[in-house]
Amino acid sequence: MANIPRHIAIIMDGNGRWAQKRGLPRIKGHEKGAEIVREITTFCANHPEIKILTLYAFSTENWKRPKMEVDFLMKLLDNWLKKELPTYIKEDIKFEIIGDISKFSKNLQDRINFTKEKTKNNKKLTQVLALNYGGRDEIIRACKRAKEKNIEIDENNFEDFFDTKIGDVDILIRTGGEKRISNFLLWRIAYAELFFTDTFWPDFTSNELKNIIEEFKKRERRFGGI
Ligand code: IPE
Ligand code: IPE
Ligand code: MG
Repeated sequence: MANIPRHIAIIMDGNGRWAQKRGLPRIKGHEKGAEIVREITTFCANHPEIKILTLYAFSTENWKRPKMEVDFLMKLLDNWLKKELPTYIKEDIKFEIIGDISKFSKNLQDRINFTKEKTKNNKKLTQVLALNYGGRDEIIRACKRAKEKNIEIDENNFEDFFDTKIGDVDILIRTGGEKRISNFLLWRIAYAELFFTDTFWPDFTSNELKNIIEEFKKRERRFGGI
């Protein structure tokens, strides 16, 4: 039986290089990248097998970037959520996040929580944005929560202590040519099928995603068995 691509996660990398290649400032790549998020999300919402799309938008390490770029990304996210809300509603998409947004401005936190609230009953697809997200940070915070509640963790209950329960990843894609995980979803990618493409995120298309899903369906997932 073919594999089911229930949960797709993407490291959306290559925005800066896409822009630089065109002689544009890096932020133009982020702008174009946001448009691709819409295309890919709509594609996934229209594929009933796909239930969760998790997108790496800002890592716990991305604060190291110049303040101007960080500020731009925050503003872009705020504008984007404002603009996308009608799309989430129209396409029946639930908006969720993972990561520690307590480091974001109060306004941005309000916008994020408002979008979550307005879309919480939507059913076709859950789009999860990873915001100020680090796989290590998520694991450490989960351990602390379990300790506070004095509950012994095991492999089955550990995810209960994460910010958001989204389950294991089936397909992990990284655009932009680098072959690394960059602290994304460490716990949940234990048995994900990995796909690396040289395409910069602003050039990524639903057609390329379709091809990846086709290849995924043919792969043999053994999960340690034979
Ligand atoms: C990924 O693209 C987007 C974010 C990290 C916000 P980059 O900005 O890392 O683009 P490159 O890798 O420098 O080309
Ligand atoms: C990973 O990309 C983070 C996001 C896509 C949000 P980076 O560009 O930050 O990763 P490195 O620095 O190349 O590992
Ligand atoms: Mg990068």
